[in-house]
Amino acid sequence: MSHNAHIQIVEMGARDGLQNEPTPVSLAVKQQLITQLVEAGLHRIEIGSFVSAKWVPQMADTDALARTLLPHPKVTYSALTPNLKGFEDALAASLKEVAVFTAASDAFTQKNINCSVAESLERFAPLFARAKEEGVRVRGYVSCVLGCPYQGATDPAKVAEVTGRLLRMGCYEVSLGDTIGVGTTRGVKTLLSRLLQDTPASTLAVHFHDTYGQALANIATSLDFGIQTIDASVAGLGGCPYAKGASGNVATEDVVYLLEGNGLSTGVDLDRLIQAGATICKALGRRNGSKVALAKGTPL
Ligand code: HMG
Ligand code: MG
Repeated sequence: MSHNAHIQIVEMGARDGLQNEPTPVSLAVKQQLITQLVEAGLHRIEIGSFVSAKWVPQMADTDALARTLLPHPKVTYSALTPNLKGFEDALAASLKEVAVFTAASDAFTQKNINCSVAESLERFAPLFARAKEEGVRVRGYVSCVLGCPYQGATDPAKVAEVTGRLLRMGCYEVSLGDTIGVGTTRGVKTLLSRLLQDTPASTLAVHFHDTYGQALANIATSLDFGIQTIDASVAGLGGCPYAKGASGNVATEDVVYLLEGNGLSTGVDLDRLIQAGATICKALGRRNGSKVALAKGTPL
């Protein structure tokens, strides 16, 4: 593990977390979550998705939420935008960063956004053009990088192809999603060895769901490969509505503990973060998915 880097954490709780929680939460609860995350020192926060409310009702108030956010000099708020309509809505709500999402699997993309991978990239083209005009930064996601719930094993060459396309189209960073958490360190090594042949580590992030308990090991391996941006979800909230069996992202608290314990700075106040996780778990009536939060005890 390299010891010279500041690692960025991209906080997924309000989006990847809440999009898959069966208990709906109010706008006020979302606002409080985001406030607490900012106060804990998280500077990159995905707040929700500009997607169809018929597909993901939990994200229906993303527009209202975005409009309540006060600009913060250090914080970037972003949201998922599957097409130009989502982008225009995000822009109207004053977001300065959005994220497009596709996959290394056609079957998954079809279930998730109702089109093939190639069609999804076509849909993104006008979005990238508008984002460039408006000075909005675009992040990209590639799902199923280590396996697909419908197609099984994923070919690293396919991940490299889609990642390269997204970067060339205008993403400043692509997040590699192990959507169903099946990957192990061997798969991560094979994947990153392939990707880093033609993609700088500074343009990649990793996004591990912890379904099989492999996320922290996979993150440690990714750090060894020079990856410096890690997606995580407070209290391990979440999953993906179109990936059966997916559990939440790796818990942010556990990632901060891993990083700080290895001398890598995150700028995150762990106690405050644990407080944020405890508050949202209480609102959801859900168990806390962070081992570190459980070990340190639930704050009052
Ligand atoms: P569609 O049905 O193919 O689209 O859905 P359409 O263009 O035919 O439109 C259908 C309806 O949706 C229309 O409304 C549109 O106006 C509306 P109607 O006439 O029926 O009333 N619509 C929209 N509404 C709001 N916002 C929009 C929008 N676009 C069209 N942007 C669509 C295509 C992409 C909209 C749909 O499939 C969708 O919303 N999917 C949601 C997918 C999603 O949010 N999945 C979860 C996030 S991805 C994830 O979790 C993975 C990740 O974490 C990484 C990892 O773990 O691997 C990122
Ligand atoms: Mg995800």
